[in-house]
Amino acid sequence: ATKQIPKEKGLDQTLTLLNEGYRYISNRRRHQQSDIIQTRLLAQKTILISGEEAAQLFYDERYFKRKGMAPRRIKKSLFGEHGVQGLDDEAHKHRKLMFLSLMTPERLEEIKKITMKHWKKKVHEWKGRNRVVLFDEAEDVMCRSACAWAGIPLREKEVEQRAREFGEMIDAFGGVGERNRRGKRARDSSEKWIQTIVKQIRAKKLNPPENTAAYIMSFHRDHKGKRLDTHTAAVEIINVLRPIVAIGRYVVFGALAVHDHPETLPELRVGDDMYTTMFVQEIRRYYPFTPLLGALARKDFHWKGYPFKKGTLVMLDVHGINHRSDLWEAPDAFKPERFKDWKGSPFAFVPQGGGDHYMGHRCAGEWITVMLMQTSLEFLTNHITYTVPDQDLSYSMVRMPTIPKSRFVIRDVDTK
Ligand code: HEM
Repeated sequence: ATKQIPKEKGLDQTLTLLNEGYRYISNRRRHQQSDIIQTRLLAQKTILISGEEAAQLFYDERYFKRKGMAPRRIKKSLFGEHGVQGLDDEAHKHRKLMFLSLMTPERLEEIKKITMKHWKKKVHEWKGRNRVVLFDEAEDVMCRSACAWAGIPLREKEVEQRAREFGEMIDAFGGVGERNRRGKRARDSSEKWIQTIVKQIRAKKLNPPENTAAYIMSFHRDHKGKRLDTHTAAVEIINVLRPIVAIGRYVVFGALAVHDHPETLPELRVGDDMYTTMFVQEIRRYYPFTPLLGALARKDFHWKGYPFKKGTLVMLDVHGINHRSDLWEAPDAFKPERFKDWKGSPFAFVPQGGGDHYMGHRCAGEWITVMLMQTSLEFLTNHITYTVPDQDLSYSMVRMPTIPKSRFVIRDVDTK
């Protein structure tokens, strides 16, 4: 029998979403006592779903597609147009494989070394300063590392601008007004820059190594054998550079976790791979980054008796799933040990999406993310010492994406 999806009252809840931020879907769940809720967002009927089985459904391509899902304002700032995020089926799998081909053990080892080198280069400059804003420094280091690894030339005097622009695209996500406009301007400027580089690579005026993103994407052919237009090639190169810069946010949350849980320091300092992996996984679970993900129903179907109509926008409760009490014991406590022998499903721990990397839209950069978080933590705990002066380290649960208000200031930096 067809069941009715519990329905939120009101014309449109876009403002409620912006007012409640990361807690929006959890609040609706509690209000309706349901893991499936009908509402209106962005002026369209929207179904919110939460839970492990909901994630499994969301990543089942028989029922959902991505083309046409992202609102214009997101494509103009965060994603770019015609990139992998909005592809489906064969076109998607072919493009996705291109991203995943970058993630070989050798290439991962390389970005790790590059990033550690850039962190260490910073220390000298920090020693003379009485205020180092870790968030800005982390985006700077990640931008340098991303470009070096991807084969994108970056002159010293452009680092600040390029790093800021990648940061602004990420920051635009839940922003309206000026924050969103800034993200769009940043995207326009970055795309122009990278398109020029793609043209130079194609004209053999610039010759990055063949295993870099710059080379691979400049010469990539789509599933029909056609070369990407320069704009799309630039969008996809930016789809590698920008999210590496986003890791800077997790580095700051990592520093915050160490600060709030100093009892973890001795174990972190031992540098045992198992412990740092657990610690990093818990950072990705605990701290808010991606609030939700959207897809469109491909056809009419029923799930658990509830009707889904073709074309309906469906949103998955990403942040909520990482904090559900049926999936995580004491979900609101920071406990790296929970990941010891963790055998959870790819639909219960979804900070960067769920399911399968090759078959679905799950993040292509999870390995880089985990590794560079470990590398950065190792740098912060084993290579330098610093103090954390009084500051406002709280972070909003409304602003999306969020970051500690002070952006994590450190001082008295010294080599260890
Ligand atoms: C997709 C989060 C780092 C490349 C995604 C998705 C999320 C995400 C939530 C969407 C999953 C979906 O649509 O189902 C993050 C976070 C990161 C991060 C929080 C770190 C702070 C990276 C890095 C790279 C990367 C380092 C590349 C070097 C991508 C790509 C996609 C993606 C290419 C699109 C995949 C597709 O549509 O098939 N990421 N990501 N990400 N990510 Fe990441």
